[in-house]
Amino acid sequence: MKAIRAINENTITDAALDQMSTTEDPRLKQVMESLVRHLHDFAREVDLKPGEWLKGIEFLTAVGKKCTPARQEFILLSDTLGMSSLINSLHDKRALEAGTKSSLLGPFYRNDSPERQMGDSITENAKGKEVVLYGKVTNSAGQPVPNASVEIWQPDDEGVYDMQRDENKMDLRGHFRTGDDGVYYCRAVAPLGYMIPMDGPVGDMIRAQKRHGYRPAHIHFLVGGEGYREVITALYLAGDDHIDSDTVFGVTESLVTDVKENDPGCPVKGMPSIEFNFELAAATAADMSGRVGADPKQIVKE
Ligand code: BEZ
Ligand code: FE
Repeated sequence: MKAIRAINENTITDAALDQMSTTEDPRLKQVMESLVRHLHDFAREVDLKPGEWLKGIEFLTAVGKKCTPARQEFILLSDTLGMSSLINSLHDKRALEAGTKSSLLGPFYRNDSPERQMGDSITENAKGKEVVLYGKVTNSAGQPVPNASVEIWQPDDEGVYDMQRDENKMDLRGHFRTGDDGVYYCRAVAPLGYMIPMDGPVGDMIRAQKRHGYRPAHIHFLVGGEGYREVITALYLAGDDHIDSDTVFGVTESLVTDVKENDPGCPVKGMPSIEFNFELAAATAADMSGRVGADPKQIVKE
């Protein structure tokens, strides 16, 4: 008979790891072993009390209950803890070549945005300041990527997304295909920054931490081409009050852009514009998606 193990606050970690050692999938084994080790270290480090652990479990239960096909509170938690941004950085580091940096997909991405023609506006109801978004999609050698898919979505000039006004409405979003020159351009509106959804347990956490909850003004992009690594990113407007304190840590220097009033390169003469060139890294055989998130309908099924 095997000797009964003496379980205490230190030996429990090896006991748990021993039991899990039969896991067949080597990656699952590695991830779970590390998770358990860090979780146990965390509990020991803060000398976690039963009531505190229960509060944590109540919090995670509330996060789960808040999830619907239109709302993914767990991803919001990942975003506000800096995990989504960390996973994005690790994903970028894994690329074969340097390319445009990733940023958060966020909860307002929709799979089925309207297909638009080059030069179109992404809104039929533009309010606020109209701007032209333009640039080129290239590979890491600067050569154009033809037939690249450029998906764009953004909040309006009050910092509100279409689906926050009406769950079934699509506005201020669309996707385009580049021609042989890799160029994209369209009309959009200058967005306003906004507060992340604060009416759930993640909002309670943000308030308890005395954080402001804002994201700086930005426009989301998802850019891909055959043989290239898809890039999920966003352009951030310089000068926003929260450019240095994004609640979800999506801003990185290379993604900060300006609205220019008289840019001679703008394809629509006389209009304010934002220019940004996207650089795609080559895809590898084992390229896994860089999307930390998805259209919530795909994650939470009714
Ligand atoms: C967004 O940019 O749409 C977003 C990202 C993370 C949390 C909330 C909103
Ligand atoms: Fe956003």
